[in-house]
Amino acid sequence: MQDTIIKNAVEYINELFGGNSDGHDALHTLRVYKNMKLIAQSYPEADLFIMSLSALLHDADDHKLFKTENNANARFFLAKNDVPEESIEQICEIINGVSFSKNRGKTPETLEGKIVQDADRLDAIGARGIARTFAYGGKVGRSLDDSVQHFYDKLLLLKDEMNTDAAKEIAKARHEYMEGFLKEYYEESRWD
Ligand code: NI
Repeated sequence: MQDTIIKNAVEYINELFGGNSDGHDALHTLRVYKNMKLIAQSYPEADLFIMSLSALLHDADDHKLFKTENNANARFFLAKNDVPEESIEQICEIINGVSFSKNRGKTPETLEGKIVQDADRLDAIGARGIARTFAYGGKVGRSLDDSVQHFYDKLLLLKDEMNTDAAKEIAKARHEYMEGFLKEYYEESRWD
């Protein structure tokens, strides 16, 4: 039953995100789901079903992509799949705690919320984080040097903002990779 709902959620987000490819696409969601499962291995007491649906639906009502209110897309899916009302509220609360811009400096109260937030943040850093930063910068007309500012505004801060030790460990390697990239970028950018 739970496995079927999770399978349905994967299908639902594939439909929902369709052709979007600016980094907030179905594959981002699937990587967050994968990161969550990786972190969750260290926390068997956390509710895997709740975290799975929260991770899979965490961008289903992202305001940059959808004009929905009150987690309408997530709620539509969950109700259609007969997820109990209490669980729906739990999942929506976790989803609403994940967004970086809305929750700067705020920590989710539940372990499940902490893990899903970490899983999302992990996908913003490392090699993929670098690729996403320049892809997004290009889309909004930023120069390469202006895009680099995003590392200092957000990406390099995320390592210390991970809630769980398991995520901190994964973040450490990805952080070092970004620092190495920046060092090389500046070195090659010199013209004198
Ligand atoms: Ni996300």
